[in-house]
Parts: sequence; C-alpha cells; structure tokens
Amino acid sequence: MTIKRRELLKYAAIAGGLLVLPAGFQRIAHAKDPESPAGNPFTLPFRVPPVLQPVRSDNTSGSNGLQDFEGTDYYEIAITKAQAQIIPGKSTEIWGYGGIFPGPTIKQKRDRQSVVRYINKLDVPMVIHLHGMAALPEYDGWAHDAVEPGYYKDFIYPNNRPATIWYHDHALHKTAPNVNMGLAGMYIVYDEYEQNLNLPSGEYDVPLVIHDKIFDRKGQIVYDDQGQKSLFGDVITVNGVAWPRMEVARRKYRFRVLNASVSRSYRLKLSSGDEFIMIGTDAGLRSAPVAVDSFRISMAERYEFILDFSKYPIGTKIVLENESPDNNEDYEKTDRIMRFDVVRDAEDTSEIPSTLRYVTPVSQLIPQAVRTREFRYERTGGQWVVNGNTWNRYESDANPQVGDVEIWTLYTNSGGWFHPIHVHLIDCQIIDRNEQPPFVYEEGWKDVIYVGGNESVRVVGKFGPHTGRYMTHCHNLVHEDHDMMRAIQIGNNSTDPALVAPPKPLPAPPL
Ligand code: C2O
Ligand code: CU
Repeated sequence: MTIKRRELLKYAAIAGGLLVLPAGFQRIAHAKDPESPAGNPFTLPFRVPPVLQPVRSDNTSGSNGLQDFEGTDYYEIAITKAQAQIIPGKSTEIWGYGGIFPGPTIKQKRDRQSVVRYINKLDVPMVIHLHGMAALPEYDGWAHDAVEPGYYKDFIYPNNRPATIWYHDHALHKTAPNVNMGLAGMYIVYDEYEQNLNLPSGEYDVPLVIHDKIFDRKGQIVYDDQGQKSLFGDVITVNGVAWPRMEVARRKYRFRVLNASVSRSYRLKLSSGDEFIMIGTDAGLRSAPVAVDSFRISMAERYEFILDFSKYPIGTKIVLENESPDNNEDYEKTDRIMRFDVVRDAEDTSEIPSTLRYVTPVSQLIPQAVRTREFRYERTGGQWVVNGNTWNRYESDANPQVGDVEIWTLYTNSGGWFHPIHVHLIDCQIIDRNEQPPFVYEEGWKDVIYVGGNESVRVVGKFGPHTGRYMTHCHNLVHEDHDMMRAIQIGNNSTDPALVAPPKPLPAPPL
C-alpha cells in the first residue's frame, strides 16, 4: 500500500493543516511533521565527496587470474562514527567510510589492481560490497563474510571494466539500517579510451549520490521501515547535503548519478523542460548518446548524462525535479532533488562524441543463450521472497558454468511494489519489459534491473569470469534484509566465500 502526495495533502486538509497520517501510517515523531529541522531546499551549498588517495602505489605488474595488471594501488578506509552537516544548523551522527557520508570516491584506472583495507571501528559487524566490480567471491561482500568490530580485511579488486560503481554495506539482515546511517561511497573506474573521448572531465565530471533520509527534531537519523516494508525519507540529500544548490558555469558537465537510497526510486526531470543527454548506465558508457526528457532510477542504478548550461543566461536557476514513480511514498518536498544556479562563464573544449563505446548488441546475445530461468519477486506471509524462498547460504537458485549465456525473466505479480533486482558479478542487458523494448536510457550493460509493479522483464547475461557463490537480491534494502535474496553458483566452486579470506584482528600490518 502506498500513499501519493495528493492523498497526503487531502489528509492534511482534513486535519486543518496538521499532517495526520491515516491508520496504519502512525509514525514516531520525526522530520515528516511540521517541525521538520530539514530547512528549505536549495539553501545549502553543493559539495562533492573527496577523492581517496592511495596510501601507497607500486608498479609491479602481475596477474590476478583474470587479467594482467600494470600495478597496484593500496587504499585504507576506516569505518567510524562521526558528525556530519547534512541539514542546516544541526550536527547529525553518521556511520561513515572514512567518517564521511558519502564515503570518499575511489578513482581507479582500468588494469591497475586495487587493494582496499577496510577497518571496522564501529561496534557492529560490517560486510563490504563493491557493487559493479567483478571481484572473486571472497572479496565480493558475501553477507556472512563479516568484518567484526576491531577487525580489518584487505579486498582485492581487478578493475576490469570502466564504469561508475559504488561500495556499500551488505551485512546480513542489517544492510538497510547500516546504509541508512551513511555507509555508501562511489568508485569510478576509467581508462584511456574513455579519457580520449574528451567528455567533460575534472571539476566538470560530477558525482551525484542521491539518498533520502528521515531526521528527528534534533537532526538525528531515524530508521523507520514501516514494519519491514520500505523506508521513505522526506528529506532528499545529494552527496550528503539536503537539497543542495550547485553553482555551475555556462558550459557542459558530465554527471554520474547513483541512487543510494534504501527504498526510494525517482524519475528525474529538469524544471527548464530540457533534456538529459544520456551517455552511460550501470556498467559504463552506452554505445551512443541519447536525449530523454526524464528517466527513472531505482536504488543502486547509475546513469550518466551531460547537461549543457551554455544556453542559459547567468542568473538562471534550474531545478532537478523528481516525478515520483509508482509505489513510492511522497512528501511535501520529495518532488525536488537539487538546483543548478548558472553563475559564471567558462571555457569548454569538451565534446559529446556521436559514438561512445562498443556495446554488444542484445540481438547478438540472445541466440547464444543456453537456458532460461524465471524469478518471481513477491511478498508472502509477511516476508519478501524469490520464487517463494528466502536467503539460505547453502542453497543456490542457478548453477551456470563460466561462459554460459542465460535469459532470465524477472517478474512481480502485484501492482503494489517495485523491485530493483541486482545480480552480483555479471552485467546483463534488458531484452524487453512486458514485451516492449526497454526504455531507451536502459540500453547497454546493467547490473540492476528496475522491475516495476506488474512488470515482467527479460534480461540476458553471460556468467563468469569467476567461479563461486554470489548473491542476487532486491536492492530495496529492506526487502533484501527480509529476505529477498538468494545465492547462485557459477561453475563447480561451492566453497563458502566467508571461509576463503577471513577478516583479521587489529592491529594490522602496514599495507
Ligand atoms: Cu549493491 Cu548485493 O548489492
Ligand atoms: Cu524489493
């Protein structure tokens, strides 16, 4: 059951302006009431998470079993409690990678290996997943591979494909509360080919990490999943700031948008009525740019787009708006995300090439498929299930061999929920949705598939390059926690990933 904003306003009117939620929606007092501490949109300055510098780099080449690499960069991230400025005039306790929300951005070159040491300085277990990286199972954040308080683990990442990916907590049954506290950060893999395309770069290549939140009146983060259903915040943050205003120059920008929300999806649109020039999706650049008026983005999806502010006079203000897709709960100000204020001129030598990168056409993948499978995502008996099943670390729903191409049908048989489905390790492409072609911005390689209410989506993907056990789940983190998650096993490697490279107690030797 969901409430749209119009209905909420109706209830508000009945209550004489006081926001009264209908029965079943009684909540603890928090920022969704008129004493919200969140302030007015577009008052706080935009910021970009800092880029994490390696502790050490070496140029010794080697092979990681998947490919040769030219060298290794070593990073360290302590997971700590910290205070953050997210809303005006209040200090909010967060749990952050490096003590910040979002965590620092790692920018890594394809074909260099990364070793990232995560140190757990919190008092609860942490599982770290780098979403979009084809890591070995023991470095993929298997939900049971917990880094306990006072422990650390060095994760090895091959960086074999350029894309905008992200790291976040994946603790068994606790992912939603942990990410709600701030445990998410961006990780960008680039290569020379992409750099030579001359897309906007440097300060004009900007991450946008969108995450909705609930605050109490003291400005502290609230976790309210409405009885293990969904968490919908009334405050929209971008890069850890409530509804920021970004000062932009009259030129082109590349934006990399990640929806790091627990349960909310968005349909992004510009108040100017202008189009987004879409250039990338979850797993990297598209084959060619395409212009769209709006696009929907579910939790964990990434899209990359170009906006060209050169046509606007200085002083123009453009709001990035949210036309809420079905099955989200809207509040007074969740219809907007951030604002771009055009404030200055700037030189622009960047380009939008007419072709970006080779993407295997879906029509070439389909005939390679060796089998099909069906996955039904639904709510039964107060639980979120996949083909009737919940998480079990010893079971698998699929056992493809390395190199097998499979077609999966993902579907929901209810109009009341949407489920963004993520398959670890691999990228796939959408064949169709309810027998219609995918939305044009969804073309290309993806690792999260938006399955809306009453939708049936067919995807095709190739398994590998690694063998072993990986997770697949709904990326509504409340659904994932309770328990819309299953394992798949690639090849004959049935080893439990938690047993292979267990975390070690501190103190840690130098990296
Ligand atoms: Cu982004 Cu299994 O997760
Ligand atoms: Cu779901």
